[in-house]
Amino acid sequence: MAPTASQADEDGSPVFGVKMPVGYRQWELIAPSHEAGDFNELRGILGNSIAMAAYREGTLPFPDGAILAKLAWKREPSSEFPGAFVPGHATTVQIMVKDSKRYASTGGWGFGRFVGGKPVDRAQHETCFGCHDAHVKNHDIVFTRFAP
Ligand code: HEC
Repeated sequence: MAPTASQADEDGSPVFGVKMPVGYRQWELIAPSHEAGDFNELRGILGNSIAMAAYREGTLPFPDGAILAKLAWKREPSSEFPGAFVPGHATTVQIMVKDSKRYASTGGWGFGRFVGGKPVDRAQHETCFGCHDAHVKNHDIVFTRFAP
């Protein structure tokens, strides 16, 4: 399948063919999050304009064209101020693309997980839908809520 104009010319994810979207770093913040366990990460979840309009209007399910991006960094103590924590090196970028026809068998969402801009293996992509579907089926399988 040919890449669309909104997608970077990079490898797509296995299973879903999801690519890193162009310009995602300029998207609006939906919410930050923190993984205090083994990952010990700070994260920021961003949405494109279609996703942000859906958040503002409380539209569920998310409309086709909505894209969510989760950026993650190692959580590092600040060297400049005790007790403050800052993002260390970037670990992963994860993408969810809404296309209710193409991804009908996975809740209408296509998934992509990228390390250093390259998609990870098929086995990891086979886990995405199951976990999201098990926990947040009532929110169109999206965990992140708009930060107040
Ligand atoms: C074991 C459970 C689990 C698996 C497997 C999983 N996720 Fe998630 N995902 C979460 C949780 C919990 C959050 C929200 C908190 C956070 O991590 O920031 C999340 C958040 C996200 C978000 C931000 C939108 C949202 O739903 O909040 C994206 C994008 C995302 N995941 C993509 C993926 C991709 C791509 C894969 C597969 C490669 C994947 N996830 C696999 C648990 C999971």
